[in-house]
Amino acid sequence: MRLGLKAYETADVLQGPHGFLTEYGENPNLEENPHLGKELPLEANSSMKTSDACMGCHDKRNNSHGVALCDTGDEYVESRSKDTCQSCHMPIVKAGADHSMRGGHSISMLKRAVRLDITTQKQTDSINVKVQIENLLPHNMPTGAPFRNIYLKLTALSANGDVLWQNFKLHPAKEDAQAFFVYVITNDAGVPKPPPLATKVGKNTRLKPYETRVLTYNLPATGVDLVRAELYYNLLTPGLIKMIKKLPEDLKIPKRIAWDEKKIH
Ligand code: HEC
Ligand code: HEC
Repeated sequence: MRLGLKAYETADVLQGPHGFLTEYGENPNLEENPHLGKELPLEANSSMKTSDACMGCHDKRNNSHGVALCDTGDEYVESRSKDTCQSCHMPIVKAGADHSMRGGHSISMLKRAVRLDITTQKQTDSINVKVQIENLLPHNMPTGAPFRNIYLKLTALSANGDVLWQNFKLHPAKEDAQAFFVYVITNDAGVPKPPPLATKVGKNTRLKPYETRVLTYNLPATGVDLVRAELYYNLLTPGLIKMIKKLPEDLKIPKRIAWDEKKIH
């Protein structure tokens, strides 16, 4: 298996999707094309427009024990999607393709990933809640690095906003496992391990490409005025956040990417 740059054939002549250079226009958020104004030979290469351009680095990133760390390629094949990676990750902004590769660090990318809806049904002294989460992506949600994860927070509130019930106190991992969408890699004994040490795959509860997952709950109805579901994306697992020293604060904070709420009558 050839990984990373070794997965690609290289050329003496600069390759581009079109065979000519374009300017980025006046968008201050984009750097200028560094090649502009230089006398460069440039060849049109249509494979730059396909997902193959990304696969050498974003598929089959196994560790030395053969455990897949990033499997976006296999997920994408499973989805049978015809959307290219570039159509989402390198959108055309003014005259050029955005090269900033927005993903898990971009709230606007994250907000387009899933659709979340709840339905509620009041019984005599309880409320049935169905939370429907649809992955709109042709790869897992979340995909990529094993430590990316999402979780659902479900709360029942009184008319003056007090939280009367919540699906977890500290973290759903142990308290409400169905609400934690995670890829776990472990040692032979099944103990979770960081990427270099993992020897096998544990559970994988990430949303599959285009999957719709329905979570059901039954909560006490007394005093409940509103039920609210919120989906949070995390760049790192709680264990890693504790382990890594001097982590910038904003990388620790869960980001709310989708939510819905219903009044209880
Ligand atoms: C030569 C290897 C290589 C190629 C080819 C490549 N990537 Fe990446 N990509 C990386 C590496 C390494 C990272 C992690 C960088 C980091 O964390 O700083 C990354 C990160 C990303 C991220 C995550 C950014 C974030 O916020 O964490 C996205 C999205 C991404 N790449 C998409 C793509 C797409 C789409 C393509 C094809 C057009 C592509 N990459 C081609 C190596 C590559
Ligand atoms: C329909 C739009 C869409 C398409 C097509 C798409 N992605 Fe993504 N991608 C996203 C969104 C939204 C996210 C953030 C949520 C997540 O992690 O799944 C993301 C996340 C990622 C990440 C993780 C970023 C991080 O910060 O960890 C990588 C890597 C990535 N995509 C690579 C690819 C590759 C490679 C392809 C093509 C095989 C591709 N994507 C196709 C929308 C898309």
